[in-house]
Amino acid sequence: MSEKRQFRAIKGTRDILPPDSALWNWFEQTARETLESYNFREVRLPIFEETELFARSIGADTDVVGKEMYTVEGRPPQEVEEFRRCITGHGSRIKADRFVLKHLVHDVEQVVPELRLAVKAGDVPDTQENQKLLDGIVAHGARLQAHLRGEAILSDEQVLQLSQTIVWAAEDLRLGEAMTLRPEATASVCRAFIEHGMQTLPGNQKLYYVGPMFRRERPQKGRYRQFYQIGAEVLGQSDAPAIDAEVLEMLLVLFKRVGLANTTLYINSIGCKDCRPKYVELLREELRKIRDNPATTGKLGPDSQRRIETNPLRVLDSKLPEEQPVIEKLPRISNHLCAACRQHFSELKDELNLREICYEENWRLVRGLDYYTRTTFEVTATGLGSQNAVCGGGRYDGLVELLGGPGGVKGIGFAIGTDRAILSIQESGNLSRLPGLSVLIARMGTKAYPVAVNIARKLRACGLAVELPPQEMKFGKALSLANKLGARYAVIIGDDEVTSGTFTLKRLADADQRTLNESELLEYLESERRGSGA
Ligand code: HAM
Repeated sequence: MSEKRQFRAIKGTRDILPPDSALWNWFEQTARETLESYNFREVRLPIFEETELFARSIGADTDVVGKEMYTVEGRPPQEVEEFRRCITGHGSRIKADRFVLKHLVHDVEQVVPELRLAVKAGDVPDTQENQKLLDGIVAHGARLQAHLRGEAILSDEQVLQLSQTIVWAAEDLRLGEAMTLRPEATASVCRAFIEHGMQTLPGNQKLYYVGPMFRRERPQKGRYRQFYQIGAEVLGQSDAPAIDAEVLEMLLVLFKRVGLANTTLYINSIGCKDCRPKYVELLREELRKIRDNPATTGKLGPDSQRRIETNPLRVLDSKLPEEQPVIEKLPRISNHLCAACRQHFSELKDELNLREICYEENWRLVRGLDYYTRTTFEVTATGLGSQNAVCGGGRYDGLVELLGGPGGVKGIGFAIGTDRAILSIQESGNLSRLPGLSVLIARMGTKAYPVAVNIARKLRACGLAVELPPQEMKFGKALSLANKLGARYAVIIGDDEVTSGTFTLKRLADADQRTLNESELLEYLESERRGSGA
């Protein structure tokens, strides 16, 4: 007998149900309108990409790449697996015996060209590692062949060793593409920019995206394994601070429109490839001193100790209370920026002032992804507990080149954590502008039914959300249902209304009631809709 069990959403993922889904749609729609008013255009990207794309752009020593990616190895076509098995199958019968050896060499000669064809056809990843393994198999096979023909003399031990190496190399071939569910989308935007030669298009490319991202983090309030972002990126030849400022202005205009309360914008500059390495070295030196001094060594936890060597900037990101006094005394990047970065940061602040944007400087804002240069920023909001960053972003000049694209392309962008932004709006209770059900239609008597169907269709055509219950209803019950469903109006159609060709309209908030003919009703509700934004 099959076990009766209920399925639940996987840890860290969740369903977004009505009425929350209406809030999500409205938030995303407002974001689209705001971003498009700044001439950003939508780009729709794949949910999964080659793993290497993220490893190379985000950085191998980041938490995202090191611990949080959902990676799977794609399966190659069955015949490719079988080709490989032709070689690995020899593993259990390796012997310094001419007959056995002849078979192995024959299979190598047959199979390797097939595997190379599969690489060419894109069925097997065209990586350096795979090419090296295939070259090795061919070279070892050739030596064994020469031995069989008597052109070279190998000892039994050498024969066994070469045969074994061939089998191991075949086992090591990576036949499936390593694919990762995207943990963020900046890398994908850059990949798409390069792939489609977008640097040849006129002006800066201003792109935005909306959709889910995936990180294997410990779930908690505001932190999920499938979460959603609305992101915007500007790619082009210019790194003018006015671009950074306009991106920040757009972000804050959006947050104001959606009623996100008490936000704080933090900004920083983390320098460029000329000045940052020197600062990082200085930081490393200082951190080593702290680690190696018996009086202070215990002040840094294991993560920070490890990061001294791998990525000392990330130590500044630490939230551990016991590390704070030490970190506060570390050298600050603002004192070590090169002249060009210092000027860029200073001009950015002028641009923000011009736009009357309030900000706080935070010298420890280094961000958790490695691709940033110069400007970095974050926006926090209230009601979120420790996961209070609703948006993060910054400049990433050089990332396009790092991913094999043209040189000289600059980039800046941000991603809003939609889950957190929505949570903060909900916590603040600032939901009055949210559209919901506009009208419930209540009818009594058989003649009322066609009138109700007809007016429902006309009201919906005006853009109103209308509920038409399938059954007749006593008016008291209908009004109570309208209230429960959160409708703003009830339209009542009974015998009297049908006879006089009118409708009774009741506003539920204050019980205001009026009798209107069809055109008056449509006009009244439409102007109400425009007024409320519903
Ligand atoms: P990020 O700071 O990693 O930056 O993520 C941006 C925002 O996504 C965060 O501020 C947060 O609101 C939200 N977020 C991140 N992880 C989670 C999670 N596990 N659960 C819920 N929300 C989360 C980036 O992703 C960069 N790509 C931003 C960017 C665009 N930089 C330049 N362009």
